[in-house]
Amino acid sequence: MKGLILVGGYGTRLRPLTLTVPKPLVEFGNRPMILHQIEALANAGVTDIVLAVNYRPEVMVETLKKYESEYGVNITFSVETEPLGTAGPLKLAEDVLKKDNSPFFVLNSDVICEYPFQELADFHKAHGGKGTIVATKVDEPSKYGVIVHDIATPNLIDRFVEKPKEFVGNRINAGLYILNPEVIDLIDMKPTSIEKETFPILVEEKQLYSFDLEGFWMDVGQPKDFLAGSVLYLNSLAKRQPKKLATGANIVGNALIDPTAKISSTAKIGPDVVIGPNVTIGDGVRITRSVVLCNSTIKNHSLVKSTIVGWNSTVGQWCRLEGVTVLGDDVEVKDEIYINGGKVLPHKSISDNVPKEAIIM
Ligand code: GDD
Ligand code: MG
Repeated sequence: MKGLILVGGYGTRLRPLTLTVPKPLVEFGNRPMILHQIEALANAGVTDIVLAVNYRPEVMVETLKKYESEYGVNITFSVETEPLGTAGPLKLAEDVLKKDNSPFFVLNSDVICEYPFQELADFHKAHGGKGTIVATKVDEPSKYGVIVHDIATPNLIDRFVEKPKEFVGNRINAGLYILNPEVIDLIDMKPTSIEKETFPILVEEKQLYSFDLEGFWMDVGQPKDFLAGSVLYLNSLAKRQPKKLATGANIVGNALIDPTAKISSTAKIGPDVVIGPNVTIGDGVRITRSVVLCNSTIKNHSLVKSTIVGWNSTVGQWCRLEGVTVLGDDVEVKDEIYINGGKVLPHKSISDNVPKEAIIM
């Protein structure tokens, strides 16, 4: 089987992290976001994976080529000279996607869930239509593509509305599809939106179905959702692979801690915390609902709450970080600083409080 992952776009909503690393390579649950998808595709029997890239392809190639042998898949890079949107890349990768008659998977690179690809493929085969979209329910549908069903035929899509201004429903496109090769014939080699241009044609032809996702789902392409997605992911790990989570007298609830992290026995971690490799956590530190990326240090008696601490950063003593604060790569926060909702660009040193949401450049 074959799969294409859309890894283009600039990931601006996940700045400052994406100023250093392309969005698909930002670690989620201590692994590059896209590895969760590569692994799930490989587990479902996919052997050919195309990564559709239009931005910093060399970084992506360098990081991901090495996973080919680990997951037993061929990874090819399909590089756009201009951004081709969410459908154009399928046309560009036509040679791989049409190499046999079997359907192929398409994934947005920033969605996290339990990826039921095998069930999706079985469902797709059973209905016989040209395409299937994975659907999930959300409270805020206006940020997504909304799916409306045909009342007579369950799962046949009647309307697809990308980012609706008015409420049309709360079942949305989860950003995971399986499509028959002939769908590529509907796409021209130019910037094209699969959501706005290709899906409406398939809906018109009565060839597009939806598959209801079980379990959690989140688009983690912005900091608030990245943190919310981490909570859901840890919950799911607690159910499926509880041994991966940390245990100990100073751990509260779900926490995923890399074995190379050094954590003071007087620090209290959790619930809902992810700590990356080579992180150092000092005495009396309190961390909840946060992600600390590799090589960072949180010094004694600081409180870190609803925050993403980027790579190679240092948070001083007696600091308080909260309110969806994000530190970029190599940031230094001096002692006794309060940051509430600050987005701090890479290589900055912070010596004044940031009491309300602000971008620090
Ligand atoms: N190769 C390539 N080229 N990839 C692109 C391009 C491009 O020009 N533009 C965007 N992408 C990739 C992004 O990296 C991402 O993986 C995917 O296409 C979707 O783009 P986003 O920018 O994340 O879109 P969105 O989150 O606003 O909306 C999409 O995802 C929602 C689910 O999370 C849509 O598919 C919605 O319908 C959907 O509900
Ligand atoms: Mg997205």
